[in-house]
Amino acid sequence: MAHRLDPKRATGWVTHDGKRLPAVPGEPLAVSLIAADRLQLGRSPKLHRPRGPSCLRGGCDGCLARVNGQPGVLTCLAPTRSGDAVETQNVVGSREIDALAAADFLFPRGIDHHRLFAGSRVLSPLLTGLARHVAGLGRLPDAIVGAPSAENASPDALVVGGGAAGIAAANTLADRGLVTWLVDDGVQFGGSLLARGKAAPALKSDVVACAQTTAVGAFVDHETASRKVVCVGSAGTKLLTPRAVVLATGCHDSVPLFPGNDLPGVMSARAALTAFHWGVAVADRLLLVGEGAFAERVNATTALEVVGRVTAAQVERIVGRRRVKGAVVDSNEKQQRLRIDAVMFDGPGAPCFELAVQCGAQVVFDGDGYVPARATDYRIAPDVYAAGSLVRAQASAGDGQAVAERVAVRLKR
Ligand code: FES
Repeated sequence: MAHRLDPKRATGWVTHDGKRLPAVPGEPLAVSLIAADRLQLGRSPKLHRPRGPSCLRGGCDGCLARVNGQPGVLTCLAPTRSGDAVETQNVVGSREIDALAAADFLFPRGIDHHRLFAGSRVLSPLLTGLARHVAGLGRLPDAIVGAPSAENASPDALVVGGGAAGIAAANTLADRGLVTWLVDDGVQFGGSLLARGKAAPALKSDVVACAQTTAVGAFVDHETASRKVVCVGSAGTKLLTPRAVVLATGCHDSVPLFPGNDLPGVMSARAALTAFHWGVAVADRLLLVGEGAFAERVNATTALEVVGRVTAAQVERIVGRRRVKGAVVDSNEKQQRLRIDAVMFDGPGAPCFELAVQCGAQVVFDGDGYVPARATDYRIAPDVYAAGSLVRAQASAGDGQAVAERVAVRLKR
């Protein structure tokens, strides 16, 4: 079962569906819940299958919950505050026994509510209404939060992503005397460095650093012919008009394909190591699937017992109704059943190109997936540059620095 390595560190507490649990203020809320062995946090919107944290970086929505009366909170990106009240959303009953999970049984091939009984004048509106209710996500907030006003700022450069590449880029730009903002949606800066057991490099004091802040969208204001980036986070909403944008948004975890890959307890090796960074072991006995630097580190971490190591193609199925209990794998042409409580996977990540595309970048298939096309001057769109694993650059910090040098030359011309 998941547990905290040093329970004495838990000086705070949160409630989960009314039960009081120890927690460490400042760690991601999802990590507080995992530490209490709460791997299942909700249900999927349509078929109500059990869901739990899988990525711990805001990419999978398995950690969505209602927090202090606000629905749809990504608890992996929310810092724990002692006294936080976390509730399962989107269930009729409880997260363990959800009456709406019958949808998964009744519609084994999924629900296409656009065509469900579309030919019947009587049944169609009835069933469409029902499907909409079943497929809803969360309830309205307890209290209406007023629309925040956005603060405008026009830095020389905006760096999105506070991992190795983004921090190196921001520090280099600040060193060149450019007014530089760095935004990152994580609870703290560092990105994948944390999962690698490394500390995030210190930021130069003149970098305007905004952790817990998401760059939610980018657009061109045609009146002023300027690019705007909307950033929302702990310090409010910012409408930034940077002269140049450096995207270092990294990669999503690749998800292996086998039955049961969505059960709570199936998570990326990077996510498990991120939890470990916060002092939480996700499992006692785990199956490691795939290859990569994070899988190697999980394998070398003595607090995590790896009972099997296979490729995704060798996994017949993951066993368990509400969380991982075991796995059936092919081993030397025989089927073997393993007793495990987690599956950790690794493989080539999928570049987080959503913001890049909004900025006008083209994406190309590189054999492993889709990647923003980067020119030799590091640009992916006019005045928009990309660095690090977003463009599958090998040494992220060095790449971030090289990109920033180029941006500095361009801006100082
Ligand atoms: S989005 Fe929070 S765990 Fe994936």
